[in-house]
Amino acid sequence: MHLQHDIACCISILFILNFAKADSQDYLQEKTIHLLDKKFNSNEYSDNDERDREFLASEDSEVSVSNTFDKNIIWKSQWANNIKFGQISGVSIDPNGNIGIFHRGSRVWNRNTFDNTNRFDRNERPIQENTIVLLDKLGRKLLEWGANMFYLPHGLTIDMYGNYWITDVALHQVFKFDAKDIAKMKDITKLKKRQYIQEKMFLNNHNFDPLLENNVLKPSMILGEAFEPGHDEKRFCKPTAVAVESNGDFFVSDGYCNSRIIKFNAKGEIILQWGRHVNGNIYDLTHLSSNVFNIPHALALASELNLLFLADRENGRVLSFFATNGTFHKEYKHPIIGTKYIV
Ligand SMILES: *[C@@H]1O[C@H](CO)[C@@H](O)[C@H](O)[C@H]1NC(C)=O
Repeated sequence: MHLQHDIACCISILFILNFAKADSQDYLQEKTIHLLDKKFNSNEYSDNDERDREFLASEDSEVSVSNTFDKNIIWKSQWANNIKFGQISGVSIDPNGNIGIFHRGSRVWNRNTFDNTNRFDRNERPIQENTIVLLDKLGRKLLEWGANMFYLPHGLTIDMYGNYWITDVALHQVFKFDAKDIAKMKDITKLKKRQYIQEKMFLNNHNFDPLLENNVLKPSMILGEAFEPGHDEKRFCKPTAVAVESNGDFFVSDGYCNSRIIKFNAKGEIILQWGRHVNGNIYDLTHLSSNVFNIPHALALASELNLLFLADRENGRVLSFFATNGTFHKEYKHPIIGTKYIV
């Protein structure tokens, strides 16, 4: 079910990109109308519960979207329906066209998940089930990993080289897992599947490789301080997503409690950052500037256009910036699309 919602979101985004292509400014003038958002469990709102509920209660729910979606898109309700997911927080396509899914297993984000300083309870264990699943186009499971590693999954981006970029909002961290390590993991899965028990014993006996031995993937890069929220050069606060350039530079949207985008070079050093919190009346959306975010929730890069797109979730808009320097480019809003979860 959750996957369906995510795909619905992706479809919304196709519309946004179409608007981008049409280069129309008209939408910017529209009054903001949020759809009643039945797509997501209200738990997802976490620290915005009260405000969201008031917001939604006052919205016009009469907006019809029935004629707007492409009728040629076929919905396959059976796709991957034999696989059990928890709350799905991230979906990304790998370079081979397979579908990576990041989910929360048995963990649920509810109003007790964080204290009022945005801290997660350190005594909680990591999610014991695998949180990352790779499926082929037919919905067959190719690989599954990520057990006992994450506390509250959020973003998953698989870059053009097959590296996995992950954000965990409980850890307040961003992780990079290298494609070559993922590939090793795939080999192991194959070995296991074929039950080459002798080979496995051989590997274990020879202390071959810690990765193989423990069957645990190690990140090649970790940014942020585990469980410590912050707003500085070393810490994030519930970082939501990552977008990656072909040269390895990457952007992080940070996040539920910060309101900024940070650009890093491939080594993980900060190149630039921009964006700030709402000041004053958060209900007054009309005076929001292009640099004021309210839950920067997802990112998408159009490198060939030198543009970075941000889903500024609670402001109900998508913003674009020049990827090279962070300068504001455009704002996209439309009544048929409500709160923007994904770009
Ligand atoms: C940022 O880059 C864009 C595109 O190259 C350019 O038009 C804009 O003037 C730059 N902004 C600044 C502040 O230099």
